[in-house]
Amino acid sequence: MSVHIMVFDSGIGGTTVLEQIQALIPDADYSYFMDNALLPYGAQSQQTIITRLFALLQFIEIEKLHVDILVIACNTASTSALETIRPYTNIEVVGVVPAIKPASALSSSKHIGLLATPSTTKSHYTANLISTYSQGTQVSLYGSTELVEIAETLFHTQTLNKEKLEKELCSLAIAEDIDVLVLGCTHFPLLANAINDYYKQRILLIDSGKAIANRVKSLIELRGYTVTGDKKKPLHFYATAPICHSQLNVELITLTDQIPHGSY
Ligand code: DGL
Repeated sequence: MSVHIMVFDSGIGGTTVLEQIQALIPDADYSYFMDNALLPYGAQSQQTIITRLFALLQFIEIEKLHVDILVIACNTASTSALETIRPYTNIEVVGVVPAIKPASALSSSKHIGLLATPSTTKSHYTANLISTYSQGTQVSLYGSTELVEIAETLFHTQTLNKEKLEKELCSLAIAEDIDVLVLGCTHFPLLANAINDYYKQRILLIDSGKAIANRVKSLIELRGYTVTGDKKKPLHFYATAPICHSQLNVELITLTDQIPHGSY
């Protein structure tokens, strides 16, 4: 039996989650979908993101891609649209949201930071996550779209714009007593080494990648799938806009904005 896992993000950030999933389930069929025509999602409205995810579901259906598990490897899309789209599909949808709970548990200073896109830091979903899981711990919010752009460039050109990164981290002015920083955007683990260097390893950085991989593994096991080999199959990339200076072999597609009949 084979299983098709599609990983979705606005750009290449979701590859940080994909890597963790592939490490646990190497032999599944994978595809990676990036809606880079609208990158950065962190600057889009909630309504726009909802519309794009409905369009993605329609694309999967029309193209008969037979996706078993759809991982929305984007904190921005998950916090703003997941609850809305889930009832409209039979596909198992797994979202990625900021790791507030483990970060609060790991903090000694009881002051943690959430570094995410502006949309994620402002979302009601994130506010609920914080009030539910960080009791007794102060959570400071830091929003950045600049870091998304720096991570994209690093991925596609293997060049880190250190000056831009340091300037952005300096302007974010993360509080001195924060000892755990949640990387609440899937692009940011690509910058983890550079962020660690900037803070001289003083802050523990955590993200949701491993937890999501475990969740996907348990879901496919429930379907009777067992990992039988460690051979990775070729990965199919879909993108909604061309990518300059990239080695990636992508299939360019157009998403047709969709909202389902009736209200949601
Ligand atoms: N990688 C996405 C996230 O986790 C968003 C990046 C963007 O703003 O497009 O939030």
